[in-house]
Amino acid sequence: MEITLTRPDDWHLHLRDGEQLKAVVAYSAARFGRAIIMPNLQPPLTTVDAAHAYRERILQALPAASDFQPLMTLYLTDRTTPAEIERAAQSEHVHAVKLYPAGATTHSDSGVTDIRHTMPALEKMAELDIPLLTHGEVTRPDVDMFDREKVFIDEVLAPLLQRLPELRVVMEHITTADAAAFVRDGRHRLGATMTPQHLLYNRNALFQGGLRPHMFCLPVLKRERHRAALIDAATSGHPSFFLGTDSAPHPRHAKESDCGCAGIFSAHAAIELYAEVFEQAGALERLEGFASHHGADFYGLPRNTDTITLRADPWQVPATLPMGKDTLVPLRAADTVRWRLVGEDR
Ligand code: DOR
Ligand code: ZN
Repeated sequence: MEITLTRPDDWHLHLRDGEQLKAVVAYSAARFGRAIIMPNLQPPLTTVDAAHAYRERILQALPAASDFQPLMTLYLTDRTTPAEIERAAQSEHVHAVKLYPAGATTHSDSGVTDIRHTMPALEKMAELDIPLLTHGEVTRPDVDMFDREKVFIDEVLAPLLQRLPELRVVMEHITTADAAAFVRDGRHRLGATMTPQHLLYNRNALFQGGLRPHMFCLPVLKRERHRAALIDAATSGHPSFFLGTDSAPHPRHAKESDCGCAGIFSAHAAIELYAEVFEQAGALERLEGFASHHGADFYGLPRNTDTITLRADPWQVPATLPMGKDTLVPLRAADTVRWRLVGEDR
C-alpha cells in the first residue's frame, strides 16, 4: 500500500548548531518542505539579526539542491522590546516568537520569569499579527510535573487570550486532554502542534523494564487517556491541530546521565511515525490535512505544491545515528517503523 500527500511541514523543530546541525538537518529536509526552527540555542536567539545569521548557517548545512526552508523564531525574554518585535514583523524570515517559561526545559534559563514582564512585546505582537508559540508549562515547584500544562492553561494562557484576543497563539507539543479540549473549543486564532511521541506512547514508556532516558522529553509523556484524546484531536480534521515533531537531538551521553536532558529525536522517521498513528486510528485520509495543510493555513503561508509518497514496508531504525563527534539514539532505535519514504516529486 502507498499513500501520496502534499509535502508536509514541521511546525516545531530543534536543529542545534555547528556539527550537530550538519548531522541532523538532512533528515528533516528529506521529508518536510519547511520547518519552524526553535531559538533555544546557547546563547538564545533573542534578536532578528541572530535569527537571520542562524538561518544562513542552516542553509549552509543543507544537502546540495535541497529547497528546505527554515522559518525562524525569536526567543522571548523579560526584556524583549517592542522595537525588536517591529524588526521581526519586517523580516521575511522571522515567523513567530517562542515563550519558554524560565527553567521549563532545555536552554530555558533566559526564558520568561513572569508573563507580565512581556506585555509590551506581546501587545506589539498582537498588533502586528506575529504568532506567540508557547512552551505551555508552569514551573512552580508546588505544581506536580504531570499537571504543569493544565495549570499553565488556567493561570497563564486563558487570562492572556482574554487580555489580548487578537494575539495568534500556538500551544506547542500539547500532551493532555485538557489542552486538546481548550484548543478545540477555542478561537480560530489558537492552534496546537502535536509530536509523534505524545501520539504513540504514554508515560509507561518511560519505565518499560527500567528507566528509559530516550523516552524523556518535556512536556513529559502523560497517561493513556490523554494520549487517546490527542489522537482524537489530531485525526478529527479540526484545522487548529497540526504537525510539529519537537525533534530535539541530544548526544547519547547527555541523555544517559545522572541528570539526563529532555528531548526525543524523531526527524529520521517523522512523517512515517505520524502515518502509523493515523493508520492505527483508521484515519489515514486525514493525515494530509494535519501534516500538510492546517499548519500552512494557520501561519498564512501557501501550502506546498509538491508531494511525497510513503509505502507500507517496514524498516529497521539503526541503534544510533552519528551526531558530530557523538552519537544520538533516535526514536524507535533498533526497532521497526512501518512506513517508508519512497518517493519525492518536486
Ligand atoms: O524535550 C524537550 N526538548 N522539550 C523542550 O521543550 C526542549 C527540547 C530541547 O531543546 O531539547
Ligand atoms: Zn521544542
